[in-house]
Amino acid sequence: MPGDWAIYGRAIHAPDGIEALVSALICVGTDGMILSVETAVAADDPRLARLRAGGSLVELTPDDILIPGLIDLHIHAPQFPQLGTALDVPLEDWLQRYTFPLESRYEDLAFAEDVYACLVETLLAHGTTTAVYFATIHLPATKRLAEICLDKGQRALVGRVGMDHPEQCPDFYRDASAEIAIAETRALIGHIRDLPGNEAALVRPMITPRFVPACTDALLEGLGALAAETRCTVQTHCSESDWEHGHVLDRCGVTDTAVLDRAGLLRRGSVLAHANFITEPDAALIRARGAAVAHCPLSNIYFAGAVFPLREMLDQGLHIGLGSDIAGGPSASLFEAARQAVAVSRLLESGTDSRKSAAARGKPGARIDFRTAFRMATAGGGESLDLPIGLFRPGYAFDAVLLRSGLPDGNLRFAEAESAAGILEKIVMLAGRGDVAQVWVAGRLVKSR
Ligand code: GUN
Ligand code: FE
Repeated sequence: MPGDWAIYGRAIHAPDGIEALVSALICVGTDGMILSVETAVAADDPRLARLRAGGSLVELTPDDILIPGLIDLHIHAPQFPQLGTALDVPLEDWLQRYTFPLESRYEDLAFAEDVYACLVETLLAHGTTTAVYFATIHLPATKRLAEICLDKGQRALVGRVGMDHPEQCPDFYRDASAEIAIAETRALIGHIRDLPGNEAALVRPMITPRFVPACTDALLEGLGALAAETRCTVQTHCSESDWEHGHVLDRCGVTDTAVLDRAGLLRRGSVLAHANFITEPDAALIRARGAAVAHCPLSNIYFAGAVFPLREMLDQGLHIGLGSDIAGGPSASLFEAARQAVAVSRLLESGTDSRKSAAARGKPGARIDFRTAFRMATAGGGESLDLPIGLFRPGYAFDAVLLRSGLPDGNLRFAEAESAAGILEKIVMLAGRGDVAQVWVAGRLVKSR
């Protein structure tokens, strides 16, 4: 819509707890930022008539509810063709036998373009308005991923993966040297920041050492220095599995978190995927640096062999959002990640060994509910990235998903006069791609049916 426009109807977001916005009028500027949010606006308010007459009002029906766009903090874009493959092998085998051979194919730009275009479309259709992507070691294909996101209107953070360790990375898929990895990362940062049409930084670069085992000390230190110099945020994996956490302890004598911090890689707005095995001092360090955790409940089921102590970490004040971890997590849907976050927290609380007494089994107080899961998928992700997204508030970007009850291929069926909490619970427990009617990013309609 040219000029300022507005949307009128029912919305829900999670500034702290859950807030239902009833008969809300949300005004959006030409720059895609929210100008104002007003609730309890009467249907006969003269402003609505004026907006309607000017063709700049989107009016929701009673079957509709608007939520902030979903923020997926951890996606491996090149692994999209690998969704659902070999999740019965340990992480280290999965990487060597399946993932690295697949990722090495992104030297082929045409192959990369096909996969990346399909992935970005798919994620938008699922309501993911912000995506944090690991790409591969290939600079041309990684540039294309950033361009595709910009073109299709998805807010994205994109990283060229750094991995130069000769003992952990195969000859066919490894950076030739730390210097080359650092130089190409620098080139990607410049390329994305200077992309025509990216003046509002819809797409941003991220410095992306794969994980400590795959990187030499020289690469970690070089990328840390580059992060400080370019004021770029960082993404990596951290203390994901017993093998990975133990490997770093053996090699470095300290945990992943401590290694990353020494290299200057723990920064505000940076994302550590998994963090299942972080210690108390690790958690304190992550919080002190303002870095965030991408909780990836689906892939943790397959690769971690443990449940991330989410409730405890939230209570300690860590920034935490959700990640699909495509393809370690076999779903592109962040709704799926949200309900799995609830489910695994319940298992952590109740314990899993039915031969033990109920009192001896679990971790009391470990559960989260649908409200917390929703918050992590939206406002928690925005906070993690240190970006004004994930809430319907003036000064925030209008990134939003319109869910509609009763769509033929959808799961949502709202009862009449259902409470906001009841609707939200259904959304978290049931919603999927078939319930998504429209998607906006920075005020631009990017999906509609
Ligand atoms: N650790 C290092 N690389 C990867 C990856 O591609 N997926 C997951 N889940 N963990 C990793
Ligand atoms: Fe991952």
